Amino acid sequence: MQDDQLSGKKIILGVTGGIAAYKACWLTRELIKRGAEVKVVMTPSAIQFVQPLTFSSLSKNEVVVNIFPDSQLNGASLKTWHIDLAIWADLMIIAPCTVNTIAKIAAGFSDNALLTVVSALRSPLLIAPAADMDMYNNKITQRNFKILEEMGYSFVNAEKGDLASGLGGEGRLADIYKIVDAAEIILTGYKKDLLKKKILVTAGPTYEDIDPVRFIGNRSSGKMGYNIAKAAFLRGADVTVITGPAHENIYPEIKVVKVRSAADMKKAVNEEIKNHDILIMAAAVADYKPAEVSNRKMKKEDKLDQIKLSPTEDILSSLKTSGKKIVGFALETDNEKENALKKLKSKNLDLIILNSLKDEMSGFEYNTNKITIIHKNGKQIDFPLKSKFQAANTIISEILKSNG
Ligand SMILES: Cc1cc2nc3c(=O)[nH]c(=O)nc-3n(C[C@H](O)[C@H](O)[C@H](O)COP(=O)(O)O)c2cc1C
Repeated sequence: MQDDQLSGKKIILGVTGGIAAYKACWLTRELIKRGAEVKVVMTPSAIQFVQPLTFSSLSKNEVVVNIFPDSQLNGASLKTWHIDLAIWADLMIIAPCTVNTIAKIAAGFSDNALLTVVSALRSPLLIAPAADMDMYNNKITQRNFKILEEMGYSFVNAEKGDLASGLGGEGRLADIYKIVDAAEIILTGYKKDLLKKKILVTAGPTYEDIDPVRFIGNRSSGKMGYNIAKAAFLRGADVTVITGPAHENIYPEIKVVKVRSAADMKKAVNEEIKNHDILIMAAAVADYKPAEVSNRKMKKEDKLDQIKLSPTEDILSSLKTSGKKIVGFALETDNEKENALKKLKSKNLDLIILNSLKDEMSGFEYNTNKITIIHKNGKQIDFPLKSKFQAANTIISEILKSNG
């Protein structure tokens, strides 16, 4: 279920002559895994790095490298393959995209197979550049990025990190999962509708220490909150995540504040809320903590048979939320809607997202979730089981529809 979000989608993957071309093999697999059909077009430079055979084996489709692939037949079987392919596609991705190909697209060149398809393309084009940092930050390259962005082409920008040249800096191909997520956003029809919005997301569990070794925690994986953060980022927002202990990956552009306990999370939310417009509280925050924390490891001989608990402080109660949109989550096992409505009202939320542990494949740890969204005005919408990334996008769209 979580892997079929690109089902039936037709994607052209353009591969150019950069060292990161090997990552495009993995990208092909991931796109296919999510249900897409993939046809690969390579530049002549790209085949210096990876053989077309690898891509044709992975995609189960022919790979085009030459504009005139059947030239040995003197044109007898030549068709306008580039037009057919361009019309076929729902999306074209170029990953990795060299600075050379970026310059050529910006200038309108069409002198190799890949560029010929780009010129004829009717679908959106998503570009994931990769280059050595000096090539990437070169003024002309930066100007070309700007030209293409202004023309409405989508980018998954390169990231900072170790580069093949041995240097470290900006230019490393974005994580392939981020490229696939960005493709999914475009193909589902979501736009950059969060530009200039600052979104704060809480995610994961909290741990309440008993002693230096043990804690009381919960089964939250952080997947829902992290997916909301990713979706919001890809839709143009500036995003901060305040996260309890979790093991999920996040994009490097997203600010991460790591916390442990409910009290830590409260403090961090209080500090960060000032700089944000929307707060989405997807974390599973403990309601109770040990009344006393031992500073030495409890021993068996201590004959500890009870832990005295005291309530944690509610995060929202101390918060200055006027002018901010506040979204809460309710994870329930019984009287789900009734309990969620109670929480919506008592915490004065704009929206509450209900997920029930009674629904299969929903809630903690799963990659999927079945959610009900309840608006402040009482409007309730039940959604079918979706991947958490798709659920995250649905939540964002509903937040944008809510007034205020
Ligand atoms: C080992 C090696 C690695 C390269 N890596 C990159 C790269 O990551 N990004 C880039 O823009 N160019 C890179 N280049 C330069 C391109 O291969 C060169 O500009 C070529 O003309 C690109 O052709 P294309 O855009 O048609 O694929 C590399 C060259 C070599 C020799």
